[in-house]
Amino acid sequence: MRIFITGGSGLLGQYLNTLLSVDNEIFTIFNSKPGNCNNYDSAKADITDYNRIHSLLNEFKPEVIIHTAAISSVQMVDKLPSKFVYEVNVNATRNLAELSSAFNSKLIYTSTDLVYAGYRGSMLTEDSKLIPASFYAETKLMGEEKIKEVSDNYVILRTGLLYGFGTNGAVNHFNYLYQNLKNNKPVKLFYDQYRTPLSLWEAARIISSLVNMNIQNEILNFGGKERVSRLELCRQLCLVAGFDCSLLEEISMYDIPGIPDAADVSMNTDKLQSLGITLKNINESLKEIIEKYIP
Ligand SMILES: NC(=O)c1ccc[n+]([C@@H]2O[C@H](COP(=O)([O-])OP(=O)(O)OC[C@H]3O[C@@H](n4cnc5c(N)ncnc54)[C@H](OP(=O)(O)O)[C@@H]3O)[C@@H](O)[C@H]2O)c1
Repeated sequence: MRIFITGGSGLLGQYLNTLLSVDNEIFTIFNSKPGNCNNYDSAKADITDYNRIHSLLNEFKPEVIIHTAAISSVQMVDKLPSKFVYEVNVNATRNLAELSSAFNSKLIYTSTDLVYAGYRGSMLTEDSKLIPASFYAETKLMGEEKIKEVSDNYVILRTGLLYGFGTNGAVNHFNYLYQNLKNNKPVKLFYDQYRTPLSLWEAARIISSLVNMNIQNEILNFGGKERVSRLELCRQLCLVAGFDCSLLEEISMYDIPGIPDAADVSMNTDKLQSLGITLKNINESLKEIIEKYIP
């Protein structure tokens, strides 16, 4: 497969570069810092620059485009002008959807679990109520809508919390937690925010299976199979890595002002698993993370 990856320097993008390049021909793009992109066919390109993206796609002629580039968190989005965020997360996604159709490529888009109403219940299915609680989540949902309008060959992955080490400066809370616990420093974690987290290795491995599957115009919950609080996830890290669990300080998400109300966006992943995808449990994933890479 010829695969074009946006956000190749990001947290997930670098794992995709590593895994997808094994069996495919990849072209990966970054915006400001290259991460591991320089190890592959790659270019610096702003996804809001339509002509530049058009010309790269025209040259590479991908069968699949994996679109992960985004202003990718609530915190980042809130620091930037909303017009700029809209350009990157919505308009550029729309343009990429249009280009993917023009070049006959399948578009795989990483949306977010935060598009769901996070106060309505747990283990949400793909047709559960969508009420994004932040501007970030709203723009990701708008990205989904634009893709559905414009593309005739897409897969939307409503991605859960991704965990594992960020590499080459990719921002990640996991590195912070790991380093602090390793140095016997306490960390604070929400006991009342529930997710179905997925390891970055698993996420990249599943995407590499999905590129070869004949699925079209589907929305999939893209998370792990266990519903846990952030505190429980880190408790499992302590157990696997041999850190002292008493370093974990329980806090409520409601103790921090300005946190969007997404207490429980845990997702039911039956649809993903019905495609023949098997999901590791958190314990197995954490063992893999620690075994493969210790910063
Ligand atoms: N991480 C999670 O837990 C999580 C959960 C749910 C959904 N997601 C979604 O999954 C995707 C990947 O997340 P991530 O954590 O890997 O994000 P990330 O580490 O913040 O990476 C974002 C990537 O987007 C690129 N980018 C940003 N603006 C760009 C622009 N104007 N032109 C070209 N590239 C641009 C960045 O390039 P530079 O670094 O070179 O500037 C970077 O490669 C995102 O779409 C995010 O919304 C992530």
